[in-house]
Amino acid sequence: MSARGNFSSKLGFILAAAGSAVGLGNIWGFPYEVGQGGGAAFVIIYLIFCFILCYPVMVTEIAIGRKTQKNPVGAFNALGYKKWNFVGKLGLFSGVLILSFYNVIAGWAFGYIFEMVAGNFGIADQFGDYITNVFKVGAYGLVFMAVTAYVVSKGVSGGIEKAARLLMPTLIIMILIIVGYVMTLPNAIDGLKFYLIPDFSKLTPSVVYNAMGQAFFSLSLGMGALITYGSYVGKSDNIISSAAFITLTDVGIAFLAGLMIFPLIGFMSGGTMEGAGRGPGLIFVTLPQIFGEIGGTLGIATGTLFFVLLCFAALTSTVSLLEVPISYVVDEWKIKRTRASWLVALFIFIIGIPSLIGNGYSEFFSTSFTTYKDGGTDTDFLSFVAALANDTILPLGGCIIAFFAAHIWKKHNLDEELSNGAPGYKGSFIQKYLNFAIGYFAPIVLISVFILTVLFKFFGIQLI
Ligand code: PHE
Repeated sequence: MSARGNFSSKLGFILAAAGSAVGLGNIWGFPYEVGQGGGAAFVIIYLIFCFILCYPVMVTEIAIGRKTQKNPVGAFNALGYKKWNFVGKLGLFSGVLILSFYNVIAGWAFGYIFEMVAGNFGIADQFGDYITNVFKVGAYGLVFMAVTAYVVSKGVSGGIEKAARLLMPTLIIMILIIVGYVMTLPNAIDGLKFYLIPDFSKLTPSVVYNAMGQAFFSLSLGMGALITYGSYVGKSDNIISSAAFITLTDVGIAFLAGLMIFPLIGFMSGGTMEGAGRGPGLIFVTLPQIFGEIGGTLGIATGTLFFVLLCFAALTSTVSLLEVPISYVVDEWKIKRTRASWLVALFIFIIGIPSLIGNGYSEFFSTSFTTYKDGGTDTDFLSFVAALANDTILPLGGCIIAFFAAHIWKKHNLDEELSNGAPGYKGSFIQKYLNFAIGYFAPIVLISVFILTVLFKFFGIQLI
């Protein structure tokens, strides 16, 4: 075992990487995107993107990591393409940005556990006051970041993998319990219809664009998180099948999150599904109202369970986000993991302070050059950072990683790495498809997404 650490088994890796993928993106982002995108039609497009576009990029990232056994910057150096290590640096930069605001939202969710336990469903109407109480939510965020740092400080198998082995199965059980329960509520069926019966007239180009962005973010791609995790994978493990399991788990849990939330909205709206398109407030505003409607011990139990599971999902993702800069400073600057974990976490927490307070003092941090999807203007700092990191840098990073692997490092080298642990890979249909996807399909789609985002979010030019 190398000094950097390793996952102890293929299952350990799959759970950790699925833990990275499954996060706020699945349980918070996915349902609200479905709600805004008009239901099942969005779901179908999302699924297609996950498998035909994201899966090949995931395989590529893991392969680059395992081949080099290095962090995202060191990986390009180790392959002999030092000039290309800017991609890794871009990833490091976006990872730090994502964690800085992601942790703020995780902190909100963490605080909600206590609100639910106390039966304070009225928090729904006070959400604005809650998030502008920066000392309170800041403290929750600090605790969340500290837990993240603790897990990462314990190392790859002793921290990251151990946490994932505990949290992922528990998360799935909790979701299944809630899904089972919400199905018994009146009008649950209307939620299911909205969620599962597609209405293709709702499928506009911007819904397709959103589905693509959602899929990419949800699978933790484009910033080297999976290069990093891939660097701890054993040479005899099968990357092709591991990546398939990771994708399936991520998609499966997003799907279950929908099965949890839309029946609740069906119940609350008396079947009209009004409120499904509420956007980001769906989880923090609408859900507590619904738990309040359920009322009593059952309302408290469901509400608490929900926010605990949301935090579990978020934690395995914040861990992976922190691991990217940690692997970098451990490999390249030779700083001890424990010390690095605490220092970098503190640094990122500080970077996140504008996102923390940018919600309350939005005029102060006004970033009027970002435009919302509905044409309004983004005025809070958190949304600005999210637009920059998630919607802009991730597709760009993914595009360059795919292009690099296919045309610079070359496909035969990628194939060589992938066939370790996957004897039937060479000559298979999967190999042919991956070569096509990595070489042409993914770079073209991703660069288009990048261009559309820049024009739209930063210049207000809406092409689709
Ligand atoms: N995939 C995570 C989510 O869905 C977020 C994430 C993005 C984690 C990029 C790591 C890297 O919440």
